[in-house]
Amino acid sequence: MLPPRSDFPADFVFGAATSAYQIEGSGAGGAGLSHWDTFAATPGNIADGSDGRVACDHLNRWPEDLDLVRDAGFDAYRFSASWARVMPDGVTLNPQGMDFYDRLVDGMVERGLKPFLTCHHWDLPADLAALGGWQNRDIAARFADLCVALHDRLGDRLASTATLNEPWCIAWLSHFLGHHAPGLRDIRAASRAMHHVLLAHGTAVQALRAEGAANLGIVLNFETAHPADDTPEARHAAEVQDAIYNQWFIRALMGQGYPQAALEGIGPHLPAGWQDDMALIAQPLDWLGVNYYTRRLYTAAPGLWPHVAEAPGPLPKTQMGWEIRPEGLTEFLTRLARDHTGALPLYVTENGMALEAGQDVTADARRVQFIGDHLRAVRAALAQGVDVRGFFYWSLLDNYEWAFGYGPRFGLVHVDYDSQTRTPKQSWHAFRAMLAGGDA
Ligand code: FCB
Repeated sequence: MLPPRSDFPADFVFGAATSAYQIEGSGAGGAGLSHWDTFAATPGNIADGSDGRVACDHLNRWPEDLDLVRDAGFDAYRFSASWARVMPDGVTLNPQGMDFYDRLVDGMVERGLKPFLTCHHWDLPADLAALGGWQNRDIAARFADLCVALHDRLGDRLASTATLNEPWCIAWLSHFLGHHAPGLRDIRAASRAMHHVLLAHGTAVQALRAEGAANLGIVLNFETAHPADDTPEARHAAEVQDAIYNQWFIRALMGQGYPQAALEGIGPHLPAGWQDDMALIAQPLDWLGVNYYTRRLYTAAPGLWPHVAEAPGPLPKTQMGWEIRPEGLTEFLTRLARDHTGALPLYVTENGMALEAGQDVTADARRVQFIGDHLRAVRAALAQGVDVRGFFYWSLLDNYEWAFGYGPRFGLVHVDYDSQTRTPKQSWHAFRAMLAGGDA
C-alpha cells in the first residue's frame, strides 16, 4: 500500500526519473560518442555485453513515455540531457541535439509536467574523456558552458535545474573502484576527479546565476555505511566509508571542508592549490537532491588505504542484491538537515528497486511495498520538521542499468526490448490511484 497523497504537504512534488544514456538510444540524432559508448564497447565491462546505443528508443518514443508520466498523475519528470548529444565533441553545439530537448521540454509543459533537468548524468563526451575527463581541471569550464547552453535554450520552461547526478559515482566509482566509465582504478585519478567534479559544479552554478537561472541544485547519493561487527576496526572502516561516500561532497558544498577521514588517503593526490577552490565550490544552492537506495556493511581490510571491505548483510534484498532498509532514508534526511543543509529544501530525487520480471510482467507487489515503505520514511522525516519538497521514483521505465546492462528492471513500466512495447506494472497503477487521491 502507498500512503495517501493527503499525508504529504499540498505542494509536495511527486515525479518519475530517468537519465539520457539509459533510455534515449545514443546512436542516433547526430550525437557524438560518450565514454559510456566506448566503455561498453570494451569486452568485460558490461555484465551482458550490451550498450545504450538503442536502449528504450526514447529518442523516438518520448511522446508515449511522457504520456505515461502524465497518465500516472505525476507532477514532475526528472530527466537528463546527454552532453554528447548537445555537444558531440564536448564543445561544439549540435542544433539537432538541442532541438530534441527543446521538443521534450515542450512536451512536458503541454502535459502539465514540471521539467526537472539534470545537466549531466554520466555520459561524458568521449573527446573530453580523451583529454582526461574529470581528471583535467579544464572540465570545469567545459561543464559550465554546457549548463549555460542548456539554460539558454530550455531555462524559460524549467522548474528546476541540477548540475550533476551523483558525483560519488562520477569520481570514486568510476576512477577508484573502476566499475563505471572510464573504468580506472587509480587513487590519483580518483582524487582529482573527486575535486574537479565539485569545481565543475561550483563553476557552473556561478555561470548559471550570471544568466539569471533560478532553482539550482545538485543531486548526491547517500548510502548507509554500518560496521559489520562491533570491533573498533569495523567501526573505523564504516567511518572512512561514510566520509568518502556520504560526507565528501555535502561538506564541501556547504562550506564545511573535506572530511579528515577521507583526506587522509585522498589529500596527497589532490591538485595543488585545491584549498583555493573551496569557496567557489560552496555556491549558495536552492535545494539538494538526495538519492537513496540501500545500506552496506563494512569491515577492515588489510593492506592499502582506505582499508575498507564490504561484508554481506542480513536484510531482504532487491534484484541488485541491495539490502532494503527504508529507515535509512529518514536517517539521511534528518542527518542532512541537522549536520549540513539546515533549512535548505531537500528532494528525494531517486529511490526505487530492481525486481526480476515474472511470467506476468506487471506483477510487482514487492515494488509497491518498497515504495510505500520509503514514502512512509519520507513522511517520518517531514514529521520531524525536515523540509522535504518531493519524491521521484527511479525509474519510469526499465532501462540500461549501466555496467549491469539490461538485466535489472527498475521501472514502473515494463519495457520489452525486442518490440519496445511499454506495459505499466502494478506499481505504476498504485501511483496512479494514490496520486488521484484514492486507495493504492
Ligand atoms: C543511481 C543512478 C541511476 C540508476 C540508479 C539505479 O545511482 O543515478 O542512473 O543507475 O542508481
